[in-house]
Amino acid sequence: MIRFDDQRTIWVMETKTAAYAIGLCESGTINHIYFGEKLPYLSDYPNASIEAKYPYTLGSELSAEEFMGWSKAKFTEPCLKATFADHVRDVVLEYCSWSMTADTLTIVLKDQHYPLSVLVTYKLYEEFDIIERSATIVNESEQCVALEAVLSGSTYVPKHQNYRLGYLTGKWVGETQFDQMMLTTTKVVLESRRGTTSHFANPFYTLDPNGQATEKSGEVYFGALAFSGNWKITLEKDRLGLVKISAGVNDFDFSWDLKPHSNFTTPSFYIGYSNAGFGEASRNLHRLQRQHLLPAPARGELRKVLYNSWDATYFDFDEDLQAKLAVEAASIGVELFVIDDGWFGKRMNDKAGLGDWYVNPEKFPRGLNGLIEKVNALGMDFGLWVEPEMVNPDSDLYRAHPNWVYHFPTRLRTEIRNQLILNLAREDVREYIVGFMDELLSKHPIKFIKWDMNRNFSEPGNPEAPISEQREVWVRHALGVYEIVTKLKERHPKVLFQSCSGGGGRVDLGIIQYFDQVWTSDNTDAYDRLRIQEGFSFAYCAKIMEAWVSDEVHPLNQRKLSLKYRFHSAMMGNLGIGDNLLKWSDTEKEEARELVELYKNIRPIVQHGDQYRLLSPRNNELSATMYVNRSKDEAVVFIFLRSNSFASTLPKLRLDGLEDHALYLIEGEQQPISGKALKQVGIKLNLIGDFDSTVIRINRVG
Ligand code: DGJ
Repeated sequence: MIRFDDQRTIWVMETKTAAYAIGLCESGTINHIYFGEKLPYLSDYPNASIEAKYPYTLGSELSAEEFMGWSKAKFTEPCLKATFADHVRDVVLEYCSWSMTADTLTIVLKDQHYPLSVLVTYKLYEEFDIIERSATIVNESEQCVALEAVLSGSTYVPKHQNYRLGYLTGKWVGETQFDQMMLTTTKVVLESRRGTTSHFANPFYTLDPNGQATEKSGEVYFGALAFSGNWKITLEKDRLGLVKISAGVNDFDFSWDLKPHSNFTTPSFYIGYSNAGFGEASRNLHRLQRQHLLPAPARGELRKVLYNSWDATYFDFDEDLQAKLAVEAASIGVELFVIDDGWFGKRMNDKAGLGDWYVNPEKFPRGLNGLIEKVNALGMDFGLWVEPEMVNPDSDLYRAHPNWVYHFPTRLRTEIRNQLILNLAREDVREYIVGFMDELLSKHPIKFIKWDMNRNFSEPGNPEAPISEQREVWVRHALGVYEIVTKLKERHPKVLFQSCSGGGGRVDLGIIQYFDQVWTSDNTDAYDRLRIQEGFSFAYCAKIMEAWVSDEVHPLNQRKLSLKYRFHSAMMGNLGIGDNLLKWSDTEKEEARELVELYKNIRPIVQHGDQYRLLSPRNNELSATMYVNRSKDEAVVFIFLRSNSFASTLPKLRLDGLEDHALYLIEGEQQPISGKALKQVGIKLNLIGDFDSTVIRINRVG
């Protein structure tokens, strides 16, 4: 609910448990007033005011503006920095008007002199205690305005407290690991300058006062940016107690030529509050994704068990080999059979072929449809890998259009994995991608696209565009991907898309509004995955998290893990199998069949239920994650033991998320037990040795 106090000109946005209040200050700016638990009365929320001036400090820098133009003596991160046609570089934004609908508040700010306005928008997701922030810059003049920094908004957490910052960091084969540090009096920047979301940092943060929140208790403020190009989240803590968080498009090497009578809308910045710890914060983000953000057509559908041949064959395959793998995959219960890199052009390795999206006639003499018919006859859907944004210099496409890649004419074109990036800021390039993808999807009964992106940007020149538009590529590329996938989905609504970027390099709340699921990491070592998947779960839901069962001895770490352990780890998300099934023994296939069957039974709870991180794999020998369905009558717990020593008895595992007074039966037990007892006393664990694991199902019986 949005409440307006016209006496004091303040707006209070109330969600299920939280409130976010802003108000008009005497300076004419809209300032932050309050973020935290909802208060009983409108009069409880403070006035909007600018704090007293300090010697050597002007008041304006102390004011917590929600959307600050860079002007006057303002020294913190601005949301808008621009140069007007007369070279004035000062944006003086003042409150003009407001409007609201049932769930959205829009504040209009106008520049004091120039015909430029900003629509600052707050959309409430009341049930999840989440507010979506965004801003639209409107140029009402006859001249261009150069936008040099445009963020989605600034937000604040209560002053005069210490905060612990939580964030996701990683690398290739080690994505989304959750780290924490105390926020000192400084400025912290989380960002990507790589042209894409990045493996190294992810646009998500948590802040908990005094580092006191746990999984189950305490206040957690969090935010996530929905953008897959260069992004930036800054956290500024000053000696006067202010903690300002700003998020949006990265202003590094950025500018946008805002044409007369045109708009620029920022990516959405989702901010939220939980007074029940990190667990509830994550669950609310997960629910938001499952119920609002994921692409609508398949939002409510369960994701299928897939097989992907990459780890098994790399580039070395033909129709016969794939057909043999398909037979094995179908026999263990796979529902979606996906061919990875290597089916097209002269793609025998990663040195050639990207850009030539015709079926390789030596590998598939009958085209792809011959294989697809076999796959479909086995009862499986068919999926295909593509990397549409890329080109190898050794390709017909590049030979025909060398100017279609980002480059600076006087510089070498840096190759990564022997490839260059197609310039999606160009309309002809976007049309070309829509064209070949549309043809592929029209000519073949493909139900799933794995869309890869295997390198970051270098030499981001767009030589044929005007100088004033050169630095727009960081945004135009990401918007180009969104636009292409939107068009393809309009034409092929039944096709699911997976976002992959050399593993989990492009996972964010923006991409998942176009892609139905993501590839989490090229690291499929089931033990390492526990860490990656745990970090992933802080921001993203299990339904979109693809996880594959792979080699018994994993090539990355040479760690040997049982089939059961590998399955259990991968069953915590969207289950896939990536190993060479032709090497599996009959016993292994039988075991796999049973585990796939088990997954299919528990899949609604894993993919659509609420997730509880019971014990973290970070520095723990024992880790456990639990999923509970929405009616709380079914649950499943995944438990992993790294190692046990000294003949120690494992502690009982305390569960969560169940109804206190309901009675539950633990799989394998005779005696029902209350939800409260499961929380307070826990369950006995029978794990032993190294790398043991179990999955326990729980059903409500009374
Ligand atoms: C990187 C992906 O993460 C892998 O799964 C695989 O698709 C390769 N690219 C193919 O080149």
